[in-house]
Amino acid sequence: MENEVVVIGSINMDLVMDVKQRPAGGETTMGESFFTNPGGKGANQAFSAATIGGNVTMLGCVGDDLFGEQLLINLKNIGVNTEYIQKIDGETSGIAMITVDQNGENSIIVAPAANNKVTPQYITLHEHVIKRAKAILIQLEIPFESVEKSIEIAKKYHVPVLLDPAPAQELPDHMLTKIDYILPNETELEQLTNRKIVDQKTAIQASQLLISKGVKTVISKLGKDGVIICQNDRAEWIKGYDVHAIDTTGAGDAFAGAFATKLVAGLDVKSSAKYANAVGALTVTKKGAQSAMPNKEDVQVYIQSQS
Ligand code: RIB
Repeated sequence: MENEVVVIGSINMDLVMDVKQRPAGGETTMGESFFTNPGGKGANQAFSAATIGGNVTMLGCVGDDLFGEQLLINLKNIGVNTEYIQKIDGETSGIAMITVDQNGENSIIVAPAANNKVTPQYITLHEHVIKRAKAILIQLEIPFESVEKSIEIAKKYHVPVLLDPAPAQELPDHMLTKIDYILPNETELEQLTNRKIVDQKTAIQASQLLISKGVKTVISKLGKDGVIICQNDRAEWIKGYDVHAIDTTGAGDAFAGAFATKLVAGLDVKSSAKYANAVGALTVTKKGAQSAMPNKEDVQVYIQSQS
């Protein structure tokens, strides 16, 4: 497949409740509304890439339950190549319990279940898929040693590595030297660098710390505050879009999938990030993760309306 992005990561069913207030320990509160929709950081990124027209293959695992089947069909329907996704016998699919408050902010707890079966052995079995990719896009919602194995294989074949470092955690220096593009949000940037991000200057300083440790390009996703791109000693800022946030779930994933797609299609880093910025902004204007992601016509109309 031409310009193929291989997304390696988690596939979850999101159980989402809108709430006025999150309960404290021992407290019961009433929620507003409830819905389920396909999620998982890996699957969200694959979906986003496919919905704007990218060639995407996903590596990951689902359970042999009803959710597993629904998650697979949903990815297949949007055009993601799901032939290597493994259905694990006797295992449940990954689940994310999500609450969304009145400002559109979410809190998420993930039960990984089948995602834990994305083992280094599974990754090795799919070395040929990574080898033929134009880039791999990976997150941290599968076992860490599988992330390491994926990066090791990609590097062996000179395939660029894009890492979305979510859920946030510190990364070993030896891994940072192998990352071509890292795409943290503000919280993840803080966690990766142990620095407090309060403004553009501190975001650039933290990004440059990652560059000094060997990351080639840092794309910091700062939501309404835009995007900061750092390469070598250069930093560039892309303005954020002013949108009314209904639900921020999956916006960072939508950005990552769109960025990877545009990059492998030959756009430069800044143009890819600008496009992805619009995709992320549109995603927060609707409820859900994959259910909120725009297709390429939506993105085109939006970008034109803003220029
Ligand atoms: O990034 C958002 C995603 O995080 C949700 O879809 C949920 O499944 C968790 O993986």
